[in-house]
Amino acid sequence: MSDAVVIEDLHKSFGPLEVLTGIDLTVTSGEVVCVIGPSGSGKSTLLRCVNLLESPTRGRIHTLGVEITDPDCELDALRRRIGMVFQQFNLFGHLTVLDNLTIAQRRVLRRTRAEAERIARENLDRVGLGDKAGAYPAHLSGGQQQRVAIARSLSMGPELMLFDEPTSALDPELVGDVLTVMRDLATEGMTMLVVTHEMAFARDVADRVVFMDGGVIVEQGAPAAVLGDPTEERTRTFLRRVLDPTHLSDAELD
Ligand SMILES: Nc1ncnc2c1ncn2[C@@H]1O[C@H](COP(=O)(O)OP(=O)(O)OP(=O)(O)O)[C@@H](O)[C@H]1O
Ligand SMILES: [Mg+2]
Repeated sequence: MSDAVVIEDLHKSFGPLEVLTGIDLTVTSGEVVCVIGPSGSGKSTLLRCVNLLESPTRGRIHTLGVEITDPDCELDALRRRIGMVFQQFNLFGHLTVLDNLTIAQRRVLRRTRAEAERIARENLDRVGLGDKAGAYPAHLSGGQQQRVAIARSLSMGPELMLFDEPTSALDPELVGDVLTVMRDLATEGMTMLVVTHEMAFARDVADRVVFMDGGVIVEQGAPAAVLGDPTEERTRTFLRRVLDPTHLSDAELD
């Protein structure tokens, strides 16, 4: 087993604000790692450092065997091997679903139209939207749009998928279909680093759960351990709050 992501002593500041203060994390090929933690704890920043959408202030990151913190690394070539799915789907509204899936394949990977369309249709089938190739994004539900965004990523043949709260902008009844697609992807062996608030997904699908707070990894381990029987008080407090949003801490009651 090789390592898909190796993060060593990662620090990231925005001006005077220290957002990540010493993260060490390894993701093995084929592994699904879910990152949970309160708002502002640095989860998105961590994910964005993995493909250098943010450049670390200090530390080293190897992604898919490439040291991306090396100024001479071939960043464009590396980014082609990584898929990223955000809360916002970022589809082109003036293009059909099929064209949304083929445009980067043709421009970036130089695939012919026929080949790009074949791969696009395969991936639309894979996310359960084989009948939507000719539709425009505005005519799809949020959950369908997010599945199109995932199919678009998969059409590029990624070796690693990064997800940043892919379901948190969706109406509750649309979340399940997107999680099912992600679950299938995990079963097929895709390496996935997933920031999520979906605790049931983390529990059932993740090989490992990482709890972040205040720019550090507070605790990580098997889902049953971190979610079911955490050792750190901060993890317990967070889980109480997520599982029961009406819960107020003692400090908040003062
Ligand atoms: N480009 C930026 N410039 C300045 N500050 C930033 C920038 N990006 C993030 N931050 C700050 O860094 C901190 C961590 O942000 P980040 O988005 O990583 O948190 P998060 O854990 O993903 O939170 P959420 O759950 O709300 O998405 C926050 O205080 C945020 O305001
Ligand atoms: Mg975030």
